[in-house]
Amino acid sequence: MHFLPEELDDYVVAHSEAEPELLQQLTRETYQKILQPIMLSGPYQGRVLSMISKLKHPKTILELGTFTGYATLCLAEGLHKDGEIHTIDINEELEEFQRKYFDKSEYGHQIFQHLGDALEIIPKLNKTFDLIFIDADKPNYVNYFHLIIDKLNPGGIILSDNVLWHGKVVEPLDPKDASTKAVLDYNKLLKEDPRIETVLLPIRDGLTISRKHIV
Ligand SMILES: C[S@@+](CC[C@H](N)C(=O)[O-])C[C@H]1O[C@@H](n2cnc3c(N)ncnc32)[C@H](O)[C@@H]1O
Repeated sequence: MHFLPEELDDYVVAHSEAEPELLQQLTRETYQKILQPIMLSGPYQGRVLSMISKLKHPKTILELGTFTGYATLCLAEGLHKDGEIHTIDINEELEEFQRKYFDKSEYGHQIFQHLGDALEIIPKLNKTFDLIFIDADKPNYVNYFHLIIDKLNPGGIILSDNVLWHGKVVEPLDPKDASTKAVLDYNKLLKEDPRIETVLLPIRDGLTISRKHIV
């Protein structure tokens, strides 16, 4: 979704870092072989994720919703040299595809895939994280927040994708539309929770950056 006029959007992309070749390959193969390729983070948001990760230089990253691994690889670019990224997806058909691209990258040995429902896997991860990217099923965003907040280190960052939900967050709410209701509840929670400070960025479908207070 383009919130900016297309011409301006093109200008923004043209004056940002270019997409690495491996991610171009991954995108092509996702479009050829995988259902709903629109779920990919895409080149511009990917560069934003990479930049935020490089600024934070995390030792540990958690991603909810791997899909074909595009954002995983973008976030991995900022990892500490001894760092690791854990990424969870419920769809077993994607696992081999993800691993192929992880192993083609220089970060393969730092990327740990978890197959299953994130709601069940998160409590079993005996780790804390410097950066967490929430990009799985929208109706569970609030549940994910409650599960991960105590696993986020002080000063740690939560990135939440699709928080503008194609602009539906400002349209009259259809009572049958559970996803939009969930995104509205989630955005309110991020704004009001005293443990974090939050800025919603109008990037692509909306990307919120929340930072956990240090004390
Ligand atoms: C929007 S895609 C993720 C895109 C990816 N982060 C990227 O930027 O390229 C959402 C993914 O969440 C996964 N998913 C949905 N519900 C899930 C759940 N309960 N637990 C784990 N993964 C889930 C889907 O299988 C899908 O691959």
